[in-house]
Amino acid sequence: MVAFDSVKKRGVYIFNALWNPTNCFEMNTEQNRLFSGASPEEVQRDLLPLVDFQGAGQSLIKINQLIEENLLPHLMRYDHAGFQSMYNSIPEQGAALGAQIALAHNQGVTNWQVSPGGAMLEELCCKSLCRLFRLSEQADATFMYSGTYANQEALYLAIHKKAELEGFDFGIQGMSGFQDSSRLVILTSRDAHFSINQSARMLGLGEQNLVSLEVGANRQIDLEQLRKTLAELKGTRDVCCIVATAGTTSTGTIDPIEALLEAARHCDAWLHLDGAYGFSFSLLPECQSQFQGMEKVDSITWDPHKQLGIPIPNSVLFVNDKRDFTRISLFSHYFNRETSNEPNPGIKSPPSTRPMSALPLVTSLLHQGMDEVLEKLRIPLQNIRRLSEHLMTQDDFRCWHEPDTGVLCFQYQPSHVPENRRNDLQTFIYETILREGRRSISVTRLGDAIVLRILVISPDIRYDDLVETITDIRSIGAGFTIGDQTL
Ligand SMILES: Cc1ncc(COP(=O)(O)O)c(C=O)c1O
Repeated sequence: MVAFDSVKKRGVYIFNALWNPTNCFEMNTEQNRLFSGASPEEVQRDLLPLVDFQGAGQSLIKINQLIEENLLPHLMRYDHAGFQSMYNSIPEQGAALGAQIALAHNQGVTNWQVSPGGAMLEELCCKSLCRLFRLSEQADATFMYSGTYANQEALYLAIHKKAELEGFDFGIQGMSGFQDSSRLVILTSRDAHFSINQSARMLGLGEQNLVSLEVGANRQIDLEQLRKTLAELKGTRDVCCIVATAGTTSTGTIDPIEALLEAARHCDAWLHLDGAYGFSFSLLPECQSQFQGMEKVDSITWDPHKQLGIPIPNSVLFVNDKRDFTRISLFSHYFNRETSNEPNPGIKSPPSTRPMSALPLVTSLLHQGMDEVLEKLRIPLQNIRRLSEHLMTQDDFRCWHEPDTGVLCFQYQPSHVPENRRNDLQTFIYETILREGRRSISVTRLGDAIVLRILVISPDIRYDDLVETITDIRSIGAGFTIGDQTL
């Protein structure tokens, strides 16, 4: 196996290493580790030769050897059954094929002159995705570099629309067009992803323009709290956007979309749905009731690079009406001309150079077929629900929510650990698991509680793999000490 061992096959470069990434991790595989377990200092020491640029070049064989020995052991193995912490995965085979072709041809797809095939494929794929997700006839989409940027563009469109209602062009006048921009409010869940805060900052709003809504027992936005907040804001603040989340980062919760949409309509606000992680599940017929109203929201963020196993970067921003994108469209004389009749996807989002991200998504869906895609979406849901049901029957565990998607947050609460040490116990378990390097889970804070979090992305992670994690948590917990006394 050599990363550069490429063969030209029907015009396509096949990089062998990509077909079987586990080959890249032989040492870690033998030791059943997720990665080398090295410290930051050790990883830095190994990687310094890679950035020691000299006058004379090195052979590709030598560079490849250096990478195999010094870098690959330190990469995370997303194909490992113990990887139960983050939204990453090894590319699905069809996706890997598309990614290799995209890489070999390196097309910039925002403009017809730069890549007629790339531009048209992206346009067709966006339309097809709108149909697949049953969005409105007028809906459209654009590929983005990440969910973070998709959220940012959505908030820009929302503020722009508010400016139109106040009678000016936000693209020209910016914040100074508002009589008092400190009145503007974006409402979202306290569990929303931090990219919403960051977007507010980058768009020239401060976090004082962001109001966090309390969540209820199952971590959904509490609608009663929302009503109270809206009543309090009336007359003093102007809500320009409500952000619902489908699959919150911490707990995978899906907010009540239809009720939030109704609230947004009441105050002439935009409703953005951040479905970076969870929107994929709306494809499953059995989940559709949780997504009621999604076809009417103004915009949706979706990351195929999360649940669908498409290589990073692969993010999409949907809008309910293709004309919504005109709010962000900029034309130039040499490129993306206003008079051009050809498709120019670059007028729907800021980057003037973007890769052919549609291709790996297209080849993945074609290769697997939608039946298999849906089946693979079901597996993590079923396994995490089974785990949740199992933990509910265990006296020494407490779940923090019922899982809407593939995430479960819980605490290990053995009776001999006092309540005031429970947070320390979760941190101890998390840090020990991380250090051992045979599996990874995550830790997060929900209110005052530090909770452990298991996230299942890969359909190859079995229920038994999750139970093994629970067994590990119990045995690590047994070593938790207060001072020098083991509990
Ligand atoms: C709900 C949610 N929104 C947005 C993002 C940001 O997406 P990206 O990592 O693609 O920037 C994340 C990332 O985890 C997320 O969970």
